[in-house]
Amino acid sequence: MRRVTLSVCSNKGGVGKTMVATQLAIYLRALYQDLPVLLVGLDDQRIIDRMFGLRPPDPGQPNLKHGWAERDLRPVVQLGQYGIHFVPTPPDTGPLKMRAEDPTMLRSILERTDFPGLTILDTKSDLEALTRNAMVASDLVILPVSDWSAFEEAEKAFALLGREPGGERRGRVLFTLVDRRTRIDREGRDLYERLATATEERGWPRFQSFLSRSPRVEALSSGSTIPGSVLHQARGTAVHRQLRELAEEVGKLLPLGDAVSMPAPPRTASPPAAPPGSAASLKNAFLRGLRRR
Ligand SMILES: Nc1ncnc2c1ncn2[C@@H]1O[C@H](COP(=O)(O)OP(=O)(O)OP(=O)(O)O)[C@@H](O)[C@H]1O
Ligand SMILES: [Mg+2]
Repeated sequence: MRRVTLSVCSNKGGVGKTMVATQLAIYLRALYQDLPVLLVGLDDQRIIDRMFGLRPPDPGQPNLKHGWAERDLRPVVQLGQYGIHFVPTPPDTGPLKMRAEDPTMLRSILERTDFPGLTILDTKSDLEALTRNAMVASDLVILPVSDWSAFEEAEKAFALLGREPGGERRGRVLFTLVDRRTRIDREGRDLYERLATATEERGWPRFQSFLSRSPRVEALSSGSTIPGSVLHQARGTAVHRQLRELAEEVGKLLPLGDAVSMPAPPRTASPPAAPPGSAASLKNAFLRGLRRR
C-alpha cells in the first residue's frame, strides 16, 4: 500500500489525543491485518514507550531527536507490542522544536523513512512548530473535541490547515470523552448535540463515530504504569465498539483497504512469515533494513 500519515492534534490538553492515537493504532493494526503501523509521539510524555516498548524505556536509546537529526526515522524505529512499530520519545522536545521551524521538515523525514504503511503522529497540546509539522505531513488530521473550549481550539487548527489550498478538508472533528448525561440546555439538548450543530454550521468534516467517557478506559490508561489496550483488555465496553467504528471510518477515508469483519485476536510482537510482495513482506524488508544499520 502507499504511505499514509494521520495525526491527532488539539491545542487543548487532556482531550484524549494520546488515547486516540495509541488505541487507533491497535485497532487499525487488527482490522487491516497486513497494515504496518508506525506510532510517533511529538511530545515528551513516555506513554507510547511504556505502552508499546517490549523492554522498559531506556533513556539512553536512540529516539525521535536522533531520527530528526538524521532526517530519517529508520535508525530509531522499534517493533513493539501488538505488532506496532514506534519511535522512542525524546526526554525533552525543546531542542527538537528548535529544529522544526520549517513546517515541511517532518513530511520530508517521513518521505525519506518510507515506512510502508500507516504512520500515526500523536502531538502535544499546542499548535507550535512540531504540531504544525505533523499537520503538514498528514493526509488526515483528527481534531478531538471534548467541550466548547476544545471546539474553539479546533477553529485555530482549521485556520492553520487552511493555509494550504484545500487543507481544511484534511481536518476532521472527533468528539471525545462524551458523557451524554451532562449539561443539558433548556431545549433538552446535551452538550454533544449542541457541539454537533455548531460543527455542522462551520461546515467542518466530522467523524460519525465518537468516544464515550468510560471509567474502565480511564483505569486502563492511567491506572497502571503500562497503559493497556482497549481491544485486548476492555472488549466489553462501549468504547471498544466505538474505537472499532472509528477505525473503520478512518480506514475508508484514507483508504486503507479491506478490513476484516471482526477485530483479530491478540497479536504477538513477532510477525508471521508473509507471502512475497504483500504489505507484511514489505514490512519485514523494512525491518531487515533496520537491522542492517
Ligand atoms: N474514553 C475515555 N474515558 C475515560 N477517560 C479517558 C478516555 N480517554 C482518555 N481518558 C483519560 O483522559 C486523560 C487525558 O487523555 P489523553 O492523555 O489521551 O489526552 P491528551 O489530549 O493526549 O492529553 P495531553 O494534552 O496531556 O497530551 C487521561 O487520563 C486518560 O486516561
Ligand atoms: Mg497526550
